[in-house]
Amino acid sequence: MGKGKALRLGVLVSGQGTNLQALIDGISAGRLSAEITVVISNHPDVPALARAQKANVPSRVFQLKDYEHRVHFDEALAEELSKYKVELVVLAGFMHILSKKFLESFPNRIINIHPSLLPENPAADEVALPDGTTSLVFRGANAVERALHAGVKWTGCSIHFVTPDLDRGPVLKRQAVPILSGDTVDSLHARIQEAEHRILPEAIQEYLIRARNGKLKTS
Ligand code: GRF
Repeated sequence: MGKGKALRLGVLVSGQGTNLQALIDGISAGRLSAEITVVISNHPDVPALARAQKANVPSRVFQLKDYEHRVHFDEALAEELSKYKVELVVLAGFMHILSKKFLESFPNRIINIHPSLLPENPAADEVALPDGTTSLVFRGANAVERALHAGVKWTGCSIHFVTPDLDRGPVLKRQAVPILSGDTVDSLHARIQEAEHRILPEAIQEYLIRARNGKLKTS
């Protein structure tokens, strides 16, 4: 990884793309020394693609239904990302579980945003909250809803490396978010997303400093 150059990002999306937008905005504000080289969506006509287009970022659509096996779909994604010499793959609301082979193509170079607090120790099943209590860890789908219904006062978001164990990769950055009385899944998710939009560009900037200083093994 060369010094001083913008980090080459490939951003995988499936929907709204508000986190993609946070990256576009962070780069144009000079808070993030990166370049989004390509945006790939697994659904056509999603708002994330319009955001890429507006920012003049190349975008591509790859749909699982066009491939006989998942592994061929993953191979096509990896090939496309390599074509753009992507250094860090950002899963920004990408609703598809990637194969082990794909993960091995980008060692320590795939990060995900999870809308819940993950523990510092990836093996733990409880996470400490700012009020001194603990919560179960909500990995996988419907994490916002599960935290809301668990009766805890805090949840949050986490940026973590992707490994074959779902939502158990090392955490890069987290932010706790309060659950307020009267919250619905939508109001809570909106508050979590505000935090995501703040910490995602920060986490990537920190990643790039560590990578440039040789503190991360990326091959
Ligand atoms: C985010 O809330 C993220 O935590 C989850 O998917 C959502 C994507 O939102 N993985 P957007 O497409 O970035 O708006």
